[in-house]
Amino acid sequence: MNKLTAIRWDIEPACNLSCKHCLVSKVKYPEKISLLENKLIAKKLIDFGVKRMVFQSKEPLLYQGICNLIAFCSNRGIVTGLATNGTLLNEDLINELIDSNLSFLAISLEGITPYSNDLIRGEGTFNVIMRNIKLLDAAMRKKNKYIQLALEMCLHKGNINEVSSMIEYFSNLPFSIINIGDIAMIGEAKKNDYLAISKLETEEAYAKLFFDFSRLGKKQFGIAPKSSMPYENIYYNTIYGLDIPFHLPSCSITKGVYSISADGHIAGCNFIKDNKPDVLIDFESDFKNMEYGGVEKVINKNNEFFSAMLKPNYKANPDCQTCLHKENCTFCPMPNDDCKGSDIERCNRYKEKLRELFSLMKNKGMPFSIASGVFADFDENGCKAYRVFFDSSVKELEIAKAHAALFIDIYKAHDDLRYSMFCENEWADELLRLLLSEGYLELKGDQ
Ligand SMILES: C[S@@+](CC[C@H](N)C(=O)[O-])C[C@H]1O[C@@H](n2cnc3c(N)ncnc32)[C@H](O)[C@@H]1O
Ligand code: SF4
Ligand code: SF4
Repeated sequence: MNKLTAIRWDIEPACNLSCKHCLVSKVKYPEKISLLENKLIAKKLIDFGVKRMVFQSKEPLLYQGICNLIAFCSNRGIVTGLATNGTLLNEDLINELIDSNLSFLAISLEGITPYSNDLIRGEGTFNVIMRNIKLLDAAMRKKNKYIQLALEMCLHKGNINEVSSMIEYFSNLPFSIINIGDIAMIGEAKKNDYLAISKLETEEAYAKLFFDFSRLGKKQFGIAPKSSMPYENIYYNTIYGLDIPFHLPSCSITKGVYSISADGHIAGCNFIKDNKPDVLIDFESDFKNMEYGGVEKVINKNNEFFSAMLKPNYKANPDCQTCLHKENCTFCPMPNDDCKGSDIERCNRYKEKLRELFSLMKNKGMPFSIASGVFADFDENGCKAYRVFFDSSVKELEIAKAHAALFIDIYKAHDDLRYSMFCENEWADELLRLLLSEGYLELKGDQ
C-alpha cells in the first residue's frame, strides 16, 4: 500500500487573477475553513507521518493566516512549499514568509517580457511580479535567511520566440530552479487553445534551453524540463555533459502524494476530480474527523481506483517493454489519452538517438568519460552505479555480476576513454551500451 507521504494543499478557493491558461480558475472550490481547523488537520497529517506539504491552488496568499499555518508545520519538521502568482507579495508578507521557515517558494511567470507574461496573467502583472521578486531577494539578504526560490514557467505561443534569451535572463534572477513545461490543455487553456504550441515546438525549445544552459559558465540555478521525456533528458545530459535529473512520467498517487481541499477533505487527486466529473470519486473523506483507519481506507480505495486507471497498455511498445524504468513509468491518466502516444514515441526516438551515439562511440572512436556525479559502489556481493544530479537526487543502476570487473575498470579509468580500450572484453558492447543509454557516460567531441 502506498503511504501518505506528501500533501498538495488547495487551501484557498479564490484567486485575484484570471489567467488564460488556468486549469483551476473556473473550478468551483468548496468553502474554506478556519486557520484553527486547518491546524488540526496539519497536526493529524504530521501524526500520520506526512513529511512534505505544498500550499498551492488557487492563490494561497489570499488565505488569512497562511504564514501562521506554514510556521506551525515547518516548526514541526515538515518541508513546506508554497506556489503563488507573486502579485500579492509585499514587504510585510515577505518578512512573514521568511520568518515562517517556509522551505521553498514557487513563483509563476509566463515569459520574460511584459508582452508574453501579461498575455496569460493579465495586464501589468509582469512588472508587479518582477518588482516583488526584487523585494523578496532584498529582504532575504537583509535577514540573511533564504527560502529556496523556484520559477514556474509554461511554454506557449506568446513566449516561444523568447526561448533563445531565456537562459541568460534566468541567470540574473534569484531562483535556484527554473521549472519549465507545457500548458496542459484543460480548464481555461482548452478555451484559449491559440496559446498552445506543438509538441515539436516544445522539443525544439528544450533542445535550445539545454544547449544554452550547457554553455552557461557558472551555473547558479538548475533547470527542470517538466515536459521532457526521460530519454530525451538523458540524451541531452550525455551530449552536453549536464546533470539535470530526469523524471519518469508518474502519477503522484503512486508516490503517496494526496490532495487536501479547501474544506479539509482528502482526495486522491483534485486534478481528476475537477476535470473528469464523470469519474466518480466516492472516497473523499472529511479529514478533520478521520482516524487513521479512515485514512487507510481512503488510500486503499485510491490505490484500487488508480491501478485500474493507470493501466500500462503503452508498455506493449517494444522499446517500453524492454525499458529498465517500465515499472515506475506511469503516465498521469489526465488530461486525455491522445497525447501519450506521441510522448512515448518521443521518448523512444531519443532512445534511438542514444543508440546512434553508441554506434559513433564504437565504430568512429568517439571519446567519452564517466559522467560527472557518477559513483560506484562495489563489494564481493555486487556492484552498483549511482548518478547524483544537481538537485542532490540520486538514481542507481544495478551492474550485473558478469559486468562488474569491467565496470570497475571503466570507472577507475574515468576520463578520456575510447571503446577500443575495452573491446577485448566480451562484455564491452553490452555494458557500454547500457551505461550510455542510462546516462552514466558523457560523450566528448561533436556529435
Ligand atoms: C494552479 S497555479 C496555483 C498557484 C498560483 N495561483 C500560481 O498561479 O502560481 C499553480 C501552477 O499551475 C500552473 N498552471 C495553471 N494552469 C496550467 C495549465 N493549463 N497547464 C500547465 N500549468 C498550469 C500555473 O502557471 C502555476 O505555475
Ligand atoms: S494560474 Fe494561479 S494565479 Fe492564475 S488564475 Fe490560476 S490559480 Fe489564479
Ligand atoms: S517505459 Fe517507455 S515511455 Fe516510459 S521511460 Fe521507458 S521508454 Fe520511456
